[in-house]
Amino acid sequence: MFKLQWLVATLACLTFCIGDNVSYDSNAIIINGERRIIFSGSIHYPRSTEAMWPDLIQKAKDGGLDAIETYIFWDRHEPQRRKYDFSGRLDFIKFFQLIQDAGLYVVMRIGPYVCAEWNYGGFPVWLHNMPGIQLRTNNQVYKNEMQTFTTKIVNMCKQANLFASQGGPIILAQIENEYGNVMTPAYGDAGKAYINWCAQMAESLNIGVPWIMCQQSDAPQPIINTCNGFYCDNFTPNNPKSPKMFTENWVGWFKKWGDKDPYRTAEDVAFSVARFFQSGGIFNNYYMYHGGTNFGRTSGGPFITTSYDYNAPLDEYGNLNQPKWGHLKQLHASIKLGEKILTNGTRSDQNFGSSATLTKFFNPTTGERFCFLSNTDGKNDATIDLQADGKYFVPAWSVSILDGCNKEVYNTAKVNSQTSMFVKEQNEKENAQLSWAWAPEPMKDTLQGNGKFAANLLLEQKRVTVDFSDYFWYMTSVDTNGTSSLQNVTLQVNTKGHVLHAFVNKRYIGSQWGSNGQSFVFEKPVLLKSGTNTITLLSATVGLKNYDAFYDMVPTGIDGGPIYLIGDGNVKTDLSSNLWSYKVGLNGEMKQIYNPMFSQRTNWIALNQKSIGRRMTWYKTSFKTPGGIDPVVLDMQGMGKGQAWVNGQSIGRFWPSFIAGNDSCSATCDYRGAYNPSKCVQNCGNPSQRWYHVPRSFLSSNTNTLILFEEIGGNPQHVSVQTITIGTICANANEGSTLELSCQGGHVISEIQFASYGNPEGKCGSFKQGSWDVTNSALFVEKACIGMESCSIDVSAKSFGLGDATNLSARLVVQALCAQN
Ligand code: GAL
Repeated sequence: MFKLQWLVATLACLTFCIGDNVSYDSNAIIINGERRIIFSGSIHYPRSTEAMWPDLIQKAKDGGLDAIETYIFWDRHEPQRRKYDFSGRLDFIKFFQLIQDAGLYVVMRIGPYVCAEWNYGGFPVWLHNMPGIQLRTNNQVYKNEMQTFTTKIVNMCKQANLFASQGGPIILAQIENEYGNVMTPAYGDAGKAYINWCAQMAESLNIGVPWIMCQQSDAPQPIINTCNGFYCDNFTPNNPKSPKMFTENWVGWFKKWGDKDPYRTAEDVAFSVARFFQSGGIFNNYYMYHGGTNFGRTSGGPFITTSYDYNAPLDEYGNLNQPKWGHLKQLHASIKLGEKILTNGTRSDQNFGSSATLTKFFNPTTGERFCFLSNTDGKNDATIDLQADGKYFVPAWSVSILDGCNKEVYNTAKVNSQTSMFVKEQNEKENAQLSWAWAPEPMKDTLQGNGKFAANLLLEQKRVTVDFSDYFWYMTSVDTNGTSSLQNVTLQVNTKGHVLHAFVNKRYIGSQWGSNGQSFVFEKPVLLKSGTNTITLLSATVGLKNYDAFYDMVPTGIDGGPIYLIGDGNVKTDLSSNLWSYKVGLNGEMKQIYNPMFSQRTNWIALNQKSIGRRMTWYKTSFKTPGGIDPVVLDMQGMGKGQAWVNGQSIGRFWPSFIAGNDSCSATCDYRGAYNPSKCVQNCGNPSQRWYHVPRSFLSSNTNTLILFEEIGGNPQHVSVQTITIGTICANANEGSTLELSCQGGHVISEIQFASYGNPEGKCGSFKQGSWDVTNSALFVEKACIGMESCSIDVSAKSFGLGDATNLSARLVVQALCAQN
């Protein structure tokens, strides 16, 4: 009996005593009494693979993050009502445990509406068809589903002891997502009631850590309202006792088919973060820290690309995106120097002219000081005289961090981190010439107008397909009865999108899509025969909409049309209430042609001239797994639009024939001035996405099967398997600091292409000697770096053999090459 009591007490203590207490005030997040500022970064677990997680988490930790933030993706976890999936890359519990093992915290944004450029904003599409449901408002059917799912996730976390209150890594949880942006006026009073219900429901789950709501200025207490954007320094939470939190600092932007590559400079992201902490912020989350890949059909829309690289500090494949990753790492370390003062101190501003501000944090107990000195002018640099504390050069649009208020430890516009440039290589002899076979998509039934069910109206696509497939067939027949006005006609289809292919009497007549996946009108002249004619229309979605008030109700497919035949004298025959026959999906999808296990059933034909540029065609090849550990990509150059599978796993939709516009790219990018997604774009005039990530865990140890479905016509002979490898790296460091170079991923420095200690000019790729330098600079660097994965060099006159020379204001720049060890 005594023993039992002891056991119970010990177990209770284990649950209670090892738990972390997470609370907050306006100056700090307080974890077990320790006053903290938190750097966090978004990594969405289904956008990478389990095998990639440990490395991504470690790189986040090395980058100076304290926490990793993720949404929970309802549609993936509950693909059919009450049938759950938490396997493989959906195993968020394992993801959280790995984060904890690495010593980091988790910020769990359940949503379960998530936006996130994710299909249908993360809602399972079956919700849409529930009788009486209205999403994201005060509707009982919806609220039941939301509560059931949220409770399930919370309970799973509780069971695995994942809340900080139980000794786990989760320090904060989010309910809903940016509802405040769309609530008024669209959802009216019901919206307000809904948000109150969300708060109450969340609180009732007793998770023992604070809940947050982002972009919700009326967040009910005690929920903390937080800010999302490119800059949040002007944000104030709705309760003076709440901490000022930046839940989404957009480090770049997402991409749609046809878009250029977004690029937000390291200088500007650092500026945004530094301004946020200068203005009293205590939590910053990078959205995204690793963007990753929208595998399968998970990309949102319409028209979100398969790559979700986001120009994040870790690129799509998990490589360090330098200098962004390194510049932010140094920023975190610099701000952390002041953590105690920032979280315990008072804050006061002193202005120098209209754009320069000195913000002083002062800890009255210890007398310590910590300062931010900002210059928000978009053009003009400033030199600020702080008298006894020194004189500082603050470039335009930058913030200096002054430790002790008298020592510059960092400036957001002075980048000392290395730049890394990656190259794509085709390195397996066996993969040089892939040998392809093809098979036509079986369309006999649909071209003849035979579907699975019929109706006298034009149906909305997702309601019928429940997003089981991108594809939905609309078929009808038209009897001309010898009417001559119906022979030379124009077929007009009004569709809500996203893509339409039309066939008349089994012959293809044309395809079309609207820009950004909007509604469009398809019009093509057709020649009808006398008697019965078959019209076959194939509508395809390209990612379901994920954002805006009532986005879930935005129709897809031909939905009501109208569809007309327009004859001589503009005489219109309305086909909208004809008898339409319907079919969901492709026959190839039903037969799982993409799955090597079943693809034997298909009669594959060796590639021939006839099969190149052919619409609605399957292609198959095999390739050898590239050696090494570098990330693997498919170069899809030459293909049109479709989906690709490696060993039966979908690597996502491809659409390399969609070319980004040729305007508005420029060779230079000025980091100064407010960022927006069309600033500094790159990749004009090229495919908006040419390369597609094939995670190594999708590959076998030797030979792999690649199967493509091509919808609009392409040439697979240009497709190749490549690896992404680090090529040139460059670094720059000023007198008195340390220059660091690193190749990463098992590569070593093989050549120093340029090194100059002096006053070199130019930038990575085109460095030049300045008016003076130390002649053996390169030799010196070679000695320290050749053959090493990383090296660091003390940048001082002494180490470069100039003795105790002072006031040199020299710097060292290096350009090196990395190679496989
Ligand atoms: C926010 C949203 C995120 C993501 C982001 C843009 O509005 O909360 O989920 O969609 O925009 O990338």
